[in-house]
Amino acid sequence: MKTVIDICTEKVNSGVSKDARRLFHGRGHQYPGYEHVVVNWFPPYLQLGFYEELPEREINDLVDNLLRVVPDVEGVVVQFRLSRKTQTKVWFGEVPQSHIVFENEMAFRIQPQRNQNVGLFMDMAHVREALAPKMRGAKVLNLFAYTCAFSVSALAQGAKLVVNCDMNANMLNVGKHNHQLNNQDLRDVRMLPHDVFKSWKKINSYGPYDVVIVDPPTNQRGSFVAEKDYPQLLKQVPKLVRTDASVVLCLNSPFLGHDFLFNLTARWCPQFELQKVMPAHEDFPEAFPDRGLKVQQYKCR
Ligand SMILES: C[S@@+](CC[C@H](N)C(=O)[O-])C[C@H]1O[C@@H](n2cnc3c(N)ncnc32)[C@H](O)[C@@H]1O
Repeated sequence: MKTVIDICTEKVNSGVSKDARRLFHGRGHQYPGYEHVVVNWFPPYLQLGFYEELPEREINDLVDNLLRVVPDVEGVVVQFRLSRKTQTKVWFGEVPQSHIVFENEMAFRIQPQRNQNVGLFMDMAHVREALAPKMRGAKVLNLFAYTCAFSVSALAQGAKLVVNCDMNANMLNVGKHNHQLNNQDLRDVRMLPHDVFKSWKKINSYGPYDVVIVDPPTNQRGSFVAEKDYPQLLKQVPKLVRTDASVVLCLNSPFLGHDFLFNLTARWCPQFELQKVMPAHEDFPEAFPDRGLKVQQYKCR
């Protein structure tokens, strides 16, 4: 049975690039006994996430071994993600509050010491890459845009306009910096710091769109609950797009599988034709794909 260190060593030996990477993804249930551990590489910093309590001695051993196999680590931050309470602690060296990482030559600002998400969802990197051929000259709508990673990638691939909608203005502000970090012209970017469900008119005013990305949270109390709100989204999306547009639907609930989205699109978007069910990113292997991140790509007829 492979250990966390075995997997991290394999990744390092296969040539860990200068990009941000997940080195170990226990959450995907591929490595029995390590479901509670994740290891991220935000060069030159390591971030360890624990979803269960662990004796300090075990954490020290893991950190010591990681420092042995991962070259040039300048700091290690540990995140304890126990139920709703998250705590973050610098365990080795120094780790800045704000740091720039790379994905496919694009730069993104992250906050390695932030509780919860640091600012970049690396499990979507392959989706951003797969969408690249659709982006030249496209109008792109990024719903639940967070720090605008999909939009940075869209403009880098030649999109003519990106519209970012997210109710968290602070995250959109990071997104604005991300666009600037990549020398993108903010005249090609629209920021809508609003609730998606209260913004259809404004969103529509910039359309019709060639590409739409729908990447809501799993379950955010008061603002998005998949069972109730995904149908509301899918009633609107067909009104926003051109014929032949690409629509990417994402869902990250352990309780709702691919069928949930298949059934909703059949009911509310009969003109959508399924193009592809995207596999999980290779750094995020999933033993039970229906429980992990689901990404489906449709073409609008
Ligand atoms: C999973 S994150 C999106 C990740 C993003 N697509 C990416 O790849 O970086 C979900 C985002 O949805 C936003 N959100 C939740 N409910 C919302 C709503 N009703 N309207 C607008 N944004 C919402 C949150 O603020 C959060 O930034």
